[in-house]
Amino acid sequence: MTGSSEWQGRVGRAWADEWRRTDRSFAGLTRQLLAAIATQPGTRVLDIGCGAGEISLGVARARGDARVTGIDISADLVAAASQRAAEFGAQRVRFAHADAGTFHDPAGPADLLVSRHGVMFFADPPGVFGHLARHAAPDARMVFSCFRARHENLWADLFDRLLPPGAPADEGAFPAGPFAFADPDHVRRCMAGWTDLSFAPVDFRYVAGSGDDAVADALAFFTRIGPAAARLATLGGAAHARMLDRMAEVVAAHCDHGVVGLPAAAWIVTARVDQQVRSV
Ligand SMILES: C[S@@+](CC[C@H](N)C(=O)[O-])C[C@H]1O[C@@H](n2cnc3c(N)ncnc32)[C@H](O)[C@@H]1O
Repeated sequence: MTGSSEWQGRVGRAWADEWRRTDRSFAGLTRQLLAAIATQPGTRVLDIGCGAGEISLGVARARGDARVTGIDISADLVAAASQRAAEFGAQRVRFAHADAGTFHDPAGPADLLVSRHGVMFFADPPGVFGHLARHAAPDARMVFSCFRARHENLWADLFDRLLPPGAPADEGAFPAGPFAFADPDHVRRCMAGWTDLSFAPVDFRYVAGSGDDAVADALAFFTRIGPAAARLATLGGAAHARMLDRMAEVVAAHCDHGVVGLPAAAWIVTARVDQQVRSV
């Protein structure tokens, strides 16, 4: 589970430091997500949980007439995104430190809502999706990506198998986390206020390491970002050292021609606002 307070603190800071590596890891997905976004109409774009801004910037580059707002609850990530947006004026791309569950854009409602993996961490997904629907433009569209099941995502599952089982957490009806949106039926229950949902599976290579020492590069990444990093931080002494050794073996086994890449599986979800819930 990665909750709001972690994104606002330690995890958000790590992502802000590591945005180049996270963008690299998602590059195979990003191309397909931007292509799916390109099929949808809209010029007032809201990037939900924008992180360091890769999708906001990609949409702005692709749509010369679009005005893009990226929002995120991590101040560190909003600062990183804002630095990257220097090529655009504030009229075209801006980033705001805001919670998707309460954000109301003073510049007007969005007609295209997008996200790369930024919507699986809400404590109350129906509440947040309902809020987004009520404040969206008539006939607004949404396009986002999320991971499919953990066992299809070897970049995470292979490390999980190395770890001692954690204590089962009581996370309620809507557990937050990277794999929280793996089940389309669960996503339908979460997406209050949205209709015509479709799910397109995307498989991609999660590139974790490259360069002169791809294995060391990947290990540095996995020890800072993702579920393995969170669990590793809970281990001490010999257990920590043993886990690192075993992670190094997994990473080395997936190094091919100087690149460490592991299988990853995502959905690209598209939806349309349900006219009945809109109040704007
Ligand atoms: C997995 S990261 C993805 C970041 C970015 N979209 C990317 O692809 O690099 C999830 C993001 O969602 C943000 N987030 C989580 N809950 C949020 C909320 N309630 N409102 C806004 N952003 C949120 C986190 O701070 C984090 O940046």
